[in-house]
Amino acid sequence: MGDNGSEGKNSLSIRDNRTGRDYEIDILEGDVIRAMDLRQIKVDNGDFGMMAYDPAYTNTASTRSTVTFIDGERGILRYRGYPIEQLAERSTHLEVSYLLLKGELPTQAQLDDFVHDVTFHTYVHENITEMLAGFRYDAHAMGMMISAVAALSTFYPEAKEIHDPEARWQQIIRLVAKMPTLAAYAYRHHRGLPYVYPENELSYTANFLNMLFRIGTRDYRPSPVLEKALDILFILHADHEQNCSTSTMRMVASSGADPYSALAGAMAALYGPLHGGANEAVLRMLNRIGSVDNIPAFLEGVKRKEERLMGFGHRVYKAYDPRASIIKRTADEVFEVTGRNPLLDIALELERIALSEEYFVERNLYPNVDFYSGIIYQAMGFPVEMFPVLFAIPRSVGWLAQWQELLEDSEQRIARPRQVYVGEEARDFIPMGDRG
Ligand code: CMC
Repeated sequence: MGDNGSEGKNSLSIRDNRTGRDYEIDILEGDVIRAMDLRQIKVDNGDFGMMAYDPAYTNTASTRSTVTFIDGERGILRYRGYPIEQLAERSTHLEVSYLLLKGELPTQAQLDDFVHDVTFHTYVHENITEMLAGFRYDAHAMGMMISAVAALSTFYPEAKEIHDPEARWQQIIRLVAKMPTLAAYAYRHHRGLPYVYPENELSYTANFLNMLFRIGTRDYRPSPVLEKALDILFILHADHEQNCSTSTMRMVASSGADPYSALAGAMAALYGPLHGGANEAVLRMLNRIGSVDNIPAFLEGVKRKEERLMGFGHRVYKAYDPRASIIKRTADEVFEVTGRNPLLDIALELERIALSEEYFVERNLYPNVDFYSGIIYQAMGFPVEMFPVLFAIPRSVGWLAQWQELLEDSEQRIARPRQVYVGEEARDFIPMGDRG
């Protein structure tokens, strides 16, 4: 990249050796070029023009965004400019949600209104609970959640009014409010327990814990330490710019789909073990390793590429994931209440050995957000099937913030990548009797 003879101009000079022609491509803010500017590079007029080939979008910016900033080399994460460390220490999940959705921290009055609105939309229509009751007793909570969120679109037909900011906000409030209710119902269904309805005087996370764990007594109150720890975990998971699920949210929504349908799509993308399903996979992995003595043999298998060290590595972070550091600190507070999760010893030793091994060092593989979160969730009493759900609840805020940004961005249109066709040339159909 550089001026290459065109001094003072912020552009990229490209010589096409096929034709000997020279092209000047503008370099825009953020050190990017427009992929469409490559299209002018042609061998002749009938040529389609040059495209960028980027499987898995490793080097393609699909949007300009003001929501979340990540510097993967230095391990920095900020929401709307505020460092994640400060938000985790001094804010609450609903305040952070307001920040992500509106762009600025709320005044006290704005926060009160927002908390009130979210609190008063936590109930779901009884038909949804009946629908959830139809799932098998051992249905995975994430499958139930994805279905329930998609079903919500049929209850709110006005959600189709995606260009009406008021209708949009109404759906945002509903989704932020109802995600914990749906998650708790999925959990109770799995356990064969009756649903516990939301209680308006409780905080966002206390209400969630109450709906999950209250049995047989009206005065169950979750531990304030666990309520706070879950709130911190929610803050850490609220957004992470253009990852797989967020890009899915944007992709589905780019066709004009309502936010419930788009969010169900985002949740499906999150479910995979390489993304939000990793916390569940980490727990299963730690259980499988079973003891500190088995770690060296396990890591040998990882180095032979027979399996992955789940909870390690990241497409963007090439340093310690800042969320993992905060989670590690939160774990100590949780364990004071719940007792120490024995899997922590395996995880700590796994991290210690892995970080000293050449395989991990040369590939910049560090613990990510999922490495320690599952150990805390398990100590708090969550079954592993709930782990991706615990990721999806707070991330719904980020998905919705990104959805709004998409709809207000005049540069966005229906998302539609190109392909390089490498299949057969045109050929004639072969009758069945003449084949093979
Ligand atoms: N264990 C062992 N090797 C790994 C791991 C791992 N967890 N992650 C990456 N590598 C190796 C990989 O084999 C490759 O080696 P080589 O250069 O010899 O082929 C190299 O590191 C680069 O990996 P990659 O797969 O090209 O990297 P990516 O950017 O495509 O994948 C990732 C990123 C997160 C999918 C991957 O690191 C991974 O599978 N990690 C485990 C799953 C996980 O913890 N996911 C949660 C991500 S954080 C939460 C979220 O935002 O979703």
